[in-house]
Amino acid sequence: MEIQAPKGTKDMLPEEAYKWHYVENIFREVSKNFGIREIRTPIFEHTELFLRGVGETTDIVQKEMYTFKDKGDRSITLKPEGTAPAVRAFIENRLFNEAQPTKLYYITPCFRYEKAQKGRYRQFHQYGVEMFGSSSPSIDAEVMALAMNILKKIGLKGLSLNINNLGCPSCRPKYNEALKNFLKENYDGLCETCKTRFEKNPMRILDCKEKKCKEITKNAPTILEFTCEECNEHFDKTKEYLDILGIPYTVDPGIVRGLDYYTKTIFEILNSEFTVCGGGRYDRLIEEIGGPSMPAVGFGMGIERLIMTLDKEGIEVPKEPLVELYLSGRGESGVKEAFKLAHKLREIGVNAEINHAGRSFKAEMKYANKIGAKFNVVLGDDELESRKAKFKRMEDREEFELSLDDLESIKDIIKK
Ligand code: HAM
Repeated sequence: MEIQAPKGTKDMLPEEAYKWHYVENIFREVSKNFGIREIRTPIFEHTELFLRGVGETTDIVQKEMYTFKDKGDRSITLKPEGTAPAVRAFIENRLFNEAQPTKLYYITPCFRYEKAQKGRYRQFHQYGVEMFGSSSPSIDAEVMALAMNILKKIGLKGLSLNINNLGCPSCRPKYNEALKNFLKENYDGLCETCKTRFEKNPMRILDCKEKKCKEITKNAPTILEFTCEECNEHFDKTKEYLDILGIPYTVDPGIVRGLDYYTKTIFEILNSEFTVCGGGRYDRLIEEIGGPSMPAVGFGMGIERLIMTLDKEGIEVPKEPLVELYLSGRGESGVKEAFKLAHKLREIGVNAEINHAGRSFKAEMKYANKIGAKFNVVLGDDELESRKAKFKRMEDREEFELSLDDLESIKDIIKK
């Protein structure tokens, strides 16, 4: 029986790879513009990191983690997100001793045992950014500007930025009380998971995906009615900085985010179908994971969802020709010359391809066409004797006679 990929996973096929390269190049380029350096952390971590980092009452921890015991009886979890691992690495490698803020980005697979559906996978990929060590609202705005900048560079238009203020440990308890008061009448109607959240972390109930919980929380009080002066001031300043950059946004008191570590600013960038990017400030996480008390802010962007949006908006991604020159050797010495010349041209950066399949001349030309070769050249006895050959541009059939020993001239014509 044929073996299939596990549910909720997706192969990235060669024909799609250029889109991934395109967005990844933009991530790297824009990150550089913002002074952000790359970090790579392991695919798996000690489970404890996510229990403490993401939060024990979140959907991620309660329902979605890929957790297993390794042969040494340690509890290991495939990373469901990139923030907690980046914070762990920041602390473990003492990066807090460097000049602050520390600005990091990563491109990583993440794993969540979610109900597989359009745009929701069990293995997906995130481009994430984390900035440690600054409590200034200007950096909240900078992080959002960075995300918007990337989406703009990619050419996406139909996305909106929604922001909210999630308060801090001094204002959140008052809100939690108000929320509990509101929810208690309908306690029996909540799902079993949300019943356990009621005492421990009632705000999590607002993020439940169950229909009956969504219905109950529809008219719940919002955090914005309870935030303290410091949080309000931070939020106002963040909005001011967004205004300075002319970035449009909507304040949506309904967003709470699905992870426990957030304080103050949170945001999501979405289209009509799903959230492409989510993030916010998390001023207590570094300390909670065992580091110094240091503020932080960041986001994660779902790459599959980004590419789906790109396709939906009909954005043409520039496609580099895979084969720039197809060399067809005639006769034994022609085949050997094609083999050698292709190798030499590859060494100086030309994408060259030859016939490995023993095709007839006609079949070869058909093949060169099919693979979209930009140029072709035929090497037979005459060409070998004169050391010259006609390089034909497939698009308009124009021919360029060049010396087989002048590799740079061949490259120049082909790359033009
Ligand atoms: P998140 O909202 O859980 O945040 O995920 C960020 C993004 O990853 C989502 O907006 C979505 O595009 C994508 N995503 C999440 N789950 C899936 C899935 N099952 N399938 C496909 N795409 C998915 C975080 O992970 C935080 N670590 C973000 C952050 C960084 N906050 C501060 N710093």
